[in-house]
Amino acid sequence: MCGIIGYVGGGDALPVLMNGLATLEYRGYDSAGVSVLTGSARPELRVVKRAGKLAALEGALADVGLAGTVGLGHTRWATHGEPTDRNAHPHVDEDGDLAIVHNGIIENFVEIKEELVADGVEFLSETDTEVLAALVARHRREPADGAAPGTALVEALRAVMRRVDGQFAVALVDRREPDVLVAGRRGAPLVLGHADGASLLSSDVAGLIAHTRDVEALTDDQVAVLTAEGIAVTDLHGEPTSGQRFTVDWDIDAAEKQGYPHFMLKEIHEQPQAIADTLVGRLDGDGRIALDEVRFDAADIRTVDKVYIVACGTSYHAGLVAKHAIEHWAGVGVEVEIASEFRYRDPILTPHTLVVAISQSGETTDTIAAAAHARDQRAKVVAISNVVGSTLTREADAVIYTRAGPEIAVASTKAFTTQIVALGVLALFLAQERRTLFPEECRDQLARYEALPGHLESLLEVNGDQLAGLAERIADAAYVMFIGRHNGVPIAYEGALKLKEISYLHAEGFPAGEMKHGPIALIDEGGPVVAIATRGHVHGKVVSNIQEVRARGAEVIALATEGDTTVKAHADHVVYIPDVHELLTPVLTVVPLQVLAYHAAVHLGRDVDQPRNLAKTVTVE
Ligand code: F6R
Repeated sequence: MCGIIGYVGGGDALPVLMNGLATLEYRGYDSAGVSVLTGSARPELRVVKRAGKLAALEGALADVGLAGTVGLGHTRWATHGEPTDRNAHPHVDEDGDLAIVHNGIIENFVEIKEELVADGVEFLSETDTEVLAALVARHRREPADGAAPGTALVEALRAVMRRVDGQFAVALVDRREPDVLVAGRRGAPLVLGHADGASLLSSDVAGLIAHTRDVEALTDDQVAVLTAEGIAVTDLHGEPTSGQRFTVDWDIDAAEKQGYPHFMLKEIHEQPQAIADTLVGRLDGDGRIALDEVRFDAADIRTVDKVYIVACGTSYHAGLVAKHAIEHWAGVGVEVEIASEFRYRDPILTPHTLVVAISQSGETTDTIAAAAHARDQRAKVVAISNVVGSTLTREADAVIYTRAGPEIAVASTKAFTTQIVALGVLALFLAQERRTLFPEECRDQLARYEALPGHLESLLEVNGDQLAGLAERIADAAYVMFIGRHNGVPIAYEGALKLKEISYLHAEGFPAGEMKHGPIALIDEGGPVVAIATRGHVHGKVVSNIQEVRARGAEVIALATEGDTTVKAHADHVVYIPDVHELLTPVLTVVPLQVLAYHAAVHLGRDVDQPRNLAKTVTVE
């Protein structure tokens, strides 16, 4: 969580920092701040920071001149200490010489803080970050004559990184070494930008794309010294090394709203293209299904006797959908687990276990840790991610990328549907390698996925007004229930999650057959129930469950397959979905639920793209 940005070059730093923060604000928006070195003869370290969204910082900067060519910015998702001006980043050391921005958590900060307090250091905030600033200051030694700029700061940072535990990305600026930025990471993302006459750093590529496509992702326990002339990366002992360098292939437009009122709506409408892109080139020259990167012998897939899928939130729901396809086509048992729980029990993992780790960002700490735990036990790990070069993809044995483009809205939409599609590709790959499907059957199924973008286009065209009206109906409800069966269950979960996270309505998803075991007690007159009742082998069962809730007064909104004539008789409102193979239906059924949640949030005046208390990328445990 949190977004960090840094610039050193020949231009004015502040506009670069502010534009970068606007792009990174989705990562956290409890407070924002910048520090810039001003004045050239004896540079001064100036810091301006404010609780609240970036607009509050913009207001504070309106009357302040912060001219300078080196600076840092931060947008915060609070972990240690409330979201106040005082706890906002950047934090400075006691003498006001250096400033630091930080994303992540320092786990042993209490012990270090006690030591520093005993030593006479006074702290102004409750953050672990201020402790880092003080610790760097303690470790800094005046540079020897002739030492390269930044030497003192980078050596101090290396010493501090050897001392601290946790996951973090940090960047520092020091007025005594005024032409450099110094940065380091362990377990939290940090990318460096090589631009003409400037160097940049950011929590993600979107923060850099306006300036350069030449990007270098730092890996764990690397530190970097950035100057206008270039970037030098070393390990924690000062040995030269390098991060993972790559060229960004998407455009700045992809990270802008392009006329849509919110990123979420834009991203909902991008789903047909995102799915089509995710499916490009999935057959190799021999007509066989291929993954993007495979670092193990595909023959090993034949001996896989168990699949675990690990993920969080919406990505976890994609895993629950995929379980049905993998078990059906590849004939291997699948368990789907919340990543934050996985490594704290004793999952049975062997070299014959395949662990599929799903993460849009590829930076979710819980998912990365679950995948690392699996690899430690010699299980094979396949990553499904939307971000090339992200930590998860670097640490996996194989990768399938969802090619959804940048997802900016905090509520995930196009990442979810592309994850289901990428997992479908994986299911077919497993079926092909395990020979549970003939190659032509795999190709036939793949062709069904390839038809999805067309169906989605028509679905998005026709349902908008109906869903906006339904959203207004549910916006006053005390409680909205979502029910489904089979692969409709994860869509019920996902529909409820979308609604609760952006509208703040109380919503919950249930397997429809479970209602009678307790949740049906919640139903009273007019209470909305959204039922996924599309065609498939459990259709009749869902229709019965709809009747059960309706008999108790529920107002039922049903999703049914085009041409279905039975559901209409039992539901108050029906949203029709194109008829596709049962295992592919979730890619379509979730979309009206995304739109429903979107309109409910707009109707209630919520901040759709940046809902309260959330952040897009969760890099804390
Ligand atoms: C909900 C949402 C979150 C994420 C979760 C995992 O709309 O976006 O639940 O799905 O935080 O994030 P990734 O996929 O980046 O690991």
